[in-house]
Amino acid sequence: MRFRKLGSSDLEVSEIALGSWLTYAGGIEADQTRACTDAAFEAGINFFDTANIYGRGAAEAAWGEILSARPRDSYILATKVWGQMSDDPDDRGLSAAQIGKQIDASLTRLQTDHVDLYQAHRFDPKVPIEETIEALQKVVADGKARYLGFSEWTVEQIEAALEIAGPDLFVSSQPQYSMLWQAPEVEVFPLSAANGISQIVWSPLAEGVLTGKYKPGEAPPADSRAANESMNKFIDGKMSEATLEAVQCLVPIAAGEGLSLPELALAWVLRRSEVAAAIVGASRPEQVHANVKASGVELSADLLAAIDEALGDAPVKEPQLAPLAEAGVLHR
Ligand SMILES: NC(=O)c1ccc[n+]([C@@H]2O[C@H](COP(=O)([O-])OP(=O)(O)OC[C@H]3O[C@@H](n4cnc5c(N)ncnc54)[C@H](OP(=O)(O)O)[C@@H]3O)[C@@H](O)[C@H]2O)c1
Repeated sequence: MRFRKLGSSDLEVSEIALGSWLTYAGGIEADQTRACTDAAFEAGINFFDTANIYGRGAAEAAWGEILSARPRDSYILATKVWGQMSDDPDDRGLSAAQIGKQIDASLTRLQTDHVDLYQAHRFDPKVPIEETIEALQKVVADGKARYLGFSEWTVEQIEAALEIAGPDLFVSSQPQYSMLWQAPEVEVFPLSAANGISQIVWSPLAEGVLTGKYKPGEAPPADSRAANESMNKFIDGKMSEATLEAVQCLVPIAAGEGLSLPELALAWVLRRSEVAAAIVGASRPEQVHANVKASGVELSADLLAAIDEALGDAPVKEPQLAPLAEAGVLHR
């Protein structure tokens, strides 16, 4: 496993990180959660990403139980705040009161006195940005988080925050980024790089679509996310026939390099120096072991061109006008 520096922090994160959305929020059983987490440590992963909203605390609680048995300095722990945490529609967002309440609740569930990275899961346009920044800085000043990050903020939102607090405010940006979702390369990557902010990217396998296991015209494998009704709400939108056909065109390209498709897809996101880690999900420990093989794989310019050609029009390459925050996607 190789490690990369997280933005301007002193954290060295594994290139492959383990995430807990959907899976350890309840989509898979507790024994598999433990097996995947143990596999991550065996494979050299030191970076774990969760959020208060994943299973409304369930993912943090599951990891709190597992991780608290290990030395606190053996893992780098990231969580997030923003999503609606109860049936009360006001129990959400980035007000000072909400951030103060949610960091304490997260730490209790995670069974630790600090997280290494505390991320604003989305932007909260209802709260003055100064209030949000001050509240996040207080979390750090109180020793409850070491560093701050954001997820899926627009360049305007990032610029506004940096103008108020300077480039040291954030060390990470967490965008969706994969061969099929390339949009952040255009604006978020360069703005972040200029301010010492790394990318830690989510759904680098497009929820499993980029593993090639979903075949055009065929039902999804029974043991996959797409076939699991508690987990397939978002992957459905990534599985048009055209996309699945484009992904199948990558199979011989990967094989020609002696790589599996997940290895090719993860090496593809890691080819960018702006990316500190690919945050991968796993429902089985074998997947963790398979995916870490991507660390250290170099892709040649010819290979990258062949991938571009094979994918054709399938990838989203332009920044999106209506980012997920405005689309009201609450539980990601
Ligand atoms: N900031 C945000 O807004 C945001 C949003 C979403 C996610 N995230 C973070 O990103 C993490 C990863 O997201 P994700 O789970 O969608 O990522 P992903 O890595 O693109 O997809 C993971 C899923 O793909 C399948 N898979 C993984 N490795 C495989 C392999 N080698 N062979 C076959 N199938 C494989 C597994 O599902 P099955 O086995 O069930 O098919 C696994 O759960 C999340 O856990 C979360 O921490 C953040």
